[in-house]
Amino acid sequence: MSTAISQSGIHEQRRRAPGWILPLAIAACLLVASLARADSPPGPAAAALPAEDGYRLWLRYVPVQGEWLARYRAAATELVGSDASPTLRAAQAELLRGLGGLLGKTPRPANGVTRDGAIVFGTPGSSALVRSLPLDLQRLGAQGYLIRTVTIQGHAATVIAANSDVGVLYGAFGFLRLLQTRRSIGHLDLATRPKIGRRVLDHWDNLDETVERGYAGDSLWQWSELPDYLSPRYTDYARACASVGINGAVLNNVNATPDILEPLYLAKVAALARVLRTYGIKVYLAVPFSVPMTLGKLQTADPLDPKVQAWWTAKVDEIYRDIPDFGGLVMKANSEGQPGPRDYGRTQAQGADVLARALAPHGGILMWRAFVYSMSAKSEDRAKQAYDTFKPLDGQFAANALVQVKNGPMDFQPREPIHPLFGAMPRTNLMLELEVSKEYLGQRTSFAYLGPLFEEALRTDTWARGKGSTVARIVDGSLYGERLTAIAGVSNIGSDRNWCGSIFNQANWYVYGRLAWDPQLSSRTIAAEWVRMTFTNDPAFVAPVVQMMMSSREAVVDYMTPLGLVSQMAANTHFGPAPWVAPGPGMPPDWSNTYYSHAFADGVGFDRTASGSDAVADYAPHLAAEFADLATCPDDLLLWFHHLSWDYRMRSGRTLWDSLVLHYDRGVGWVKQARATWGTLAPYVDPQRYRMTADFFAIEQHDAEWWRDASIAYFQSISHRPLPPGVAPPPDTLQHYEAFCVPYNEGAVGHTACPPADVTVPR
Ligand code: GCU
Repeated sequence: MSTAISQSGIHEQRRRAPGWILPLAIAACLLVASLARADSPPGPAAAALPAEDGYRLWLRYVPVQGEWLARYRAAATELVGSDASPTLRAAQAELLRGLGGLLGKTPRPANGVTRDGAIVFGTPGSSALVRSLPLDLQRLGAQGYLIRTVTIQGHAATVIAANSDVGVLYGAFGFLRLLQTRRSIGHLDLATRPKIGRRVLDHWDNLDETVERGYAGDSLWQWSELPDYLSPRYTDYARACASVGINGAVLNNVNATPDILEPLYLAKVAALARVLRTYGIKVYLAVPFSVPMTLGKLQTADPLDPKVQAWWTAKVDEIYRDIPDFGGLVMKANSEGQPGPRDYGRTQAQGADVLARALAPHGGILMWRAFVYSMSAKSEDRAKQAYDTFKPLDGQFAANALVQVKNGPMDFQPREPIHPLFGAMPRTNLMLELEVSKEYLGQRTSFAYLGPLFEEALRTDTWARGKGSTVARIVDGSLYGERLTAIAGVSNIGSDRNWCGSIFNQANWYVYGRLAWDPQLSSRTIAAEWVRMTFTNDPAFVAPVVQMMMSSREAVVDYMTPLGLVSQMAANTHFGPAPWVAPGPGMPPDWSNTYYSHAFADGVGFDRTASGSDAVADYAPHLAAEFADLATCPDDLLLWFHHLSWDYRMRSGRTLWDSLVLHYDRGVGWVKQARATWGTLAPYVDPQRYRMTADFFAIEQHDAEWWRDASIAYFQSISHRPLPPGVAPPPDTLQHYEAFCVPYNEGAVGHTACPPADVTVPR
């Protein structure tokens, strides 16, 4: 709900390819694509492919063609396993559905291995056959699985084994993925277990069925029909989540209403829990801190008040009566006007403790968000507030509580430096919160694949315990040895037929789940998997599309907030450029955009070094020194940490002003190039999904040009520098861009208080 907020930044110099690389790489892929086309049978004509609406996501199971078909059929002749539990039945059903679709023939269910090509699935508890094999399942833990080629009674077989039923389900999906991506399955020996224990999707869904920051229609949860009607979509949602290992769902908005804890709604939650449980997904709820007052009619919500403590205990007991495997609670306190312990002079840890203690006897956990900041009109550097609040509380949170920290100190910007709390609380369970919906990255229609953003956060080295202290290792518990580990992704799923608002947004759900399972996986490998399963295995399609996906987020950074700028989006909607938004009367300065850019006649950027807010000192010394020193600060975080003259000489030899302008222009150039590339790929995609993506590219090009032109017009009105050669001036005046406003937008909270624009939409 924050007004306008954002940021960007990281390692242009180190991580970012020079401007000419991306267009060149896409052109090279096009060349490869056309060569591949020349060598292989011509791709299917789009019109020949049946239209697809995206509902089946990456679980399409379309028939395998050519040489692979015979090989796979030979390895899937019969299916041997128990259907003793709902989860095992789900695993069996998925194997039958998947293999039936892929191979045009379902394997015969059998009680034992009678021929070559048997697939055996189960746990040592559910299958005597699995029990009899020397598989060393110990190392898989409770949720991992193995897939191995074995010989049983003289017959070649594939065994999918785990210690738990849900592990078997994950294994079934893992096995199908091998076929979907055309991997050889003749000699398999795979073992994998999730590195993070709780892999959660946070749905910011309201009980009126709207979704805060949702760009895919209404809520997936049909609250008014629950608990009596269970939409089949709940099962398909659960299948998709389980296919990537997601094992938790927070069902409601972090800006929670007390109603969610009313018996009426708890019955609906219990009904959803029954569906999701089969697929290994626990449900969690977000709750408001003041609920003992609003619902419990107490005079206070002070966490040290015994009546408040008793109220929470009774409420949590009530939840567990209906939902014995309830996951736990999420709290947003003292954030964006929400109540919290600070209202009673208590610390965040004292606030958390009362909930954690109520949950502990049931095995429930508490995810307490670190997204706090003061609403006072004179706030200090917003980037320091969570650190200042939580760092002193290290070691004071209960064993079943986690502090949930966004990837950056600001708010899900196209790029931010890592949140300084990672590495700063070694005696606290810290979890990472990512945003899968693209609130600040173009929302429904932009092409942005978030794999590289997530990967960048996970791989950031905090240096908290010397080199190699990556965020991934803090989150997976391997750096400090936490036993309770978790990760959350703000969901991008809604009631749209295609689930995520666009076909390519589905990749963000997919990559979130895959990285949550294993944060060491590469986002490029995951992109390739997703493309193969969602579209085709034809390399002439896979190569250019993966290349586009991998460079797409950087393009958004370029045309929205390059070089470490943040929070330049329109107030409230967070859609479209509004760098001119300045603090209004009574408005906290950090709800404006000019607060973040600090653009004045002398230069641009927020000084967070010792001469400024010194936020840089919140990082471990090695990282702090790197960010503070202009010689080592990555170009793409420059203006996050430094205030620099417009004429500052970049490492490239260009002035800062020229570099800024060229970044905007480069972002637009990327979109045009990607749009053209997509235009050549029509033969490989069914007409419906092709058209939607092509039209969304047209929208993105318009939006990128709007961003570039409005941003250049604004900053040039301050820098008074000429545009570098080759860059066309904005077609409209700054006043024109400022006057334009989008009053309504999907996912925004209410409508923006801007008059309907009496100017035309920016060109
Ligand atoms: C962002 C977002 C809000 C959300 C908040 C949060 O500010 O715009 O809608 O409530 O994050 O994470 O709590």
